[in-house]
Amino acid sequence: MSQPLYPWIGDQDEDSEKPSGTTFQEVLDRRTLLKGAAAAALVTGVAATGISAAETDSTEPNEAFFRSGIEFSPLKPTTSGTADFINVPENYNVSLVIRWGDPVVSGAPLFDGNNMTAASQAGQFGYNNDFVGYFALPDWKSQNSQLGILAVNFEYTNPELIFPGYSSSNPTKEQVDIEIAAHGMGFFEVQRMPDAWVNVVGPLGRRVTGETVCEITGPAAGDEWMKTTADTTGTRVRGTLNNCAGGKTPWGTVLTAEENFNQYFANRNSMADGPAKTAHARYGVTTGASGRKWERFHDRFDLAKEPNEPFRFGWIVEIDPYDPTFVPKKRTALGRAKNECATTILARDGRVVVYKGDDERFDYVYKFVTSGKFNPDNRAANMSLLDSGTLYAAKLNDDGTGEWIPLIFGQGPLTTANGWRNQAHVLINTRAAGDALGATKMDRPEDVEANPVTGKVYGLFTNNSNRGVGTNPGTDPANPRPNNRSGHIIEFVEAGGDNAALRFSWNMFMLCGMPSDPSTDFAGFPKDQVSPIGAPDQCVFDNAGNLWIGTDGMDSAIGFQDALYACPTEGPERGFLRMFATVPVGAETCGPEFTPDNSTVFIAIQHPGEGGVRGGQVVSRWPDGLDYPKPSIIAIHKAFGTSPTIGSR
Ligand code: FEO
Ligand code: CA
Ligand code: CA
Ligand code: CA
Repeated sequence: MSQPLYPWIGDQDEDSEKPSGTTFQEVLDRRTLLKGAAAAALVTGVAATGISAAETDSTEPNEAFFRSGIEFSPLKPTTSGTADFINVPENYNVSLVIRWGDPVVSGAPLFDGNNMTAASQAGQFGYNNDFVGYFALPDWKSQNSQLGILAVNFEYTNPELIFPGYSSSNPTKEQVDIEIAAHGMGFFEVQRMPDAWVNVVGPLGRRVTGETVCEITGPAAGDEWMKTTADTTGTRVRGTLNNCAGGKTPWGTVLTAEENFNQYFANRNSMADGPAKTAHARYGVTTGASGRKWERFHDRFDLAKEPNEPFRFGWIVEIDPYDPTFVPKKRTALGRAKNECATTILARDGRVVVYKGDDERFDYVYKFVTSGKFNPDNRAANMSLLDSGTLYAAKLNDDGTGEWIPLIFGQGPLTTANGWRNQAHVLINTRAAGDALGATKMDRPEDVEANPVTGKVYGLFTNNSNRGVGTNPGTDPANPRPNNRSGHIIEFVEAGGDNAALRFSWNMFMLCGMPSDPSTDFAGFPKDQVSPIGAPDQCVFDNAGNLWIGTDGMDSAIGFQDALYACPTEGPERGFLRMFATVPVGAETCGPEFTPDNSTVFIAIQHPGEGGVRGGQVVSRWPDGLDYPKPSIIAIHKAFGTSPTIGSR
């Protein structure tokens, strides 16, 4: 049980939790289209919401009337390596929803850690869960917070924690095939019980893996760089890999972001010098053998045999959770990057805006604006919206202004004279296009997400200790710290409050770290009251517009285990960051995701026990008490009289 660190935080005034919209309701109606009816969205729960609307003529929120409704007592930070369990504030409960190896597809075998096969893994919950999306049942317009589908990314594998006696220099084909099957996504029904959430193995259960055939759509489909021996059309690809974070569309599909795909490919040096080889270098495809050695067993990972295969990864992939037969679509119009995420919001006119971060030191923030408009009355009509539109890269000027620079073939430097072939080429080599256009080189863009209440956009820049080192760019106002181990968060305000705008202003919302560190800042909130934070990575908003932040690597930044935080973005508590949950030793705090009514928050516990070796040094036994850990999804909700912690302690 945690001890309150800040006992002066009392309960909120209950009256402040009653929403009463007037003109502000117009803003809410637009902003909460993603979540369905605005009125249904404003209920109390984990984030005990409470926006009081103003009697005002303004069509924008009046910040004096924002109430965060955050009611928990913040946790004390957990010193690195000391806690192999989940910690949450008093009066909250934790349930373990699903673990690596649990059946997802009906008929899949129970997990047997000593007799794994690729076939069994392909029906079970995969490894290193990251993004979590909750899709209410029975259909995409539902606000049901008791029964839904969880869509979960499986980013990568830790073979040293999966296989006892694993040899990185000599993996077996069987091990590699199990790992390929442990990648991708899982879809499964979850149901709220009185004191827990449970995985219901039902007809909507589905696994997408590194072998699942995906369709390539949009402007780059069929391009010469997309063709391989196995796919001479350049339109179909085996598998989706390194699915990190993602997003949800207004029509109830999931967007899964292929991130560090480069690690699966080998032997760039086998290629002749030329534009394709240069493009692979810009994305970090290695010159010789890969660390994973998959190329020994599967030609498609070997550039000596299939030099174009990496071009078919690094995309945003759209999948319909409500249709287990849906063929995943790699949407090339959104550009190719080490995509952290793909989060959506509607523009004023109903076009769909997608925000993305390219997670690399000195890479870029992007947004994509569809050509067509969202149709709330015809779901099928929205299913190809992401195939046409404009991709932009962010330029953050030193004076706090900014602009979205379009990546359009034939415009600016993206011309034939400069070696660009067509729009497909621009999209496949998005990073080089961003370089040519002078986009702002950021400190590792992670989640970038619009606040559904205000429309303001928050970019999480997790860390960069290389700024100013050697020939690397030095500091600038948007990346102001030279040894930025703890990261920062920038608030983007789109011109006119329209997410399709071509200009924006930006400000430094949070400079993370120990509050005692003079280089930190929390939107100006008194630092003696905020929780320490390092390496912000993924985020989500509750229905009151509070920003919930999950960290990855806080131990190396400031010596604490990773955690989930809540931070108001408006009103008198803006910047009042509070730690809500801590995760087991070695783990990263992924997800997070709320049910529509905010009564539950799901967290993906990724890479617990990182640094350990199965059959060797044990770092974590979470959650089963075995000599190896299991990445898992937990749900946090109000307690029903039982211990608010799970796992060994
Ligand atoms: Fe997979 Fe950028 O974190
Ligand atoms: Ca991440
Ligand atoms: Ca997110
Ligand atoms: Ca990360």
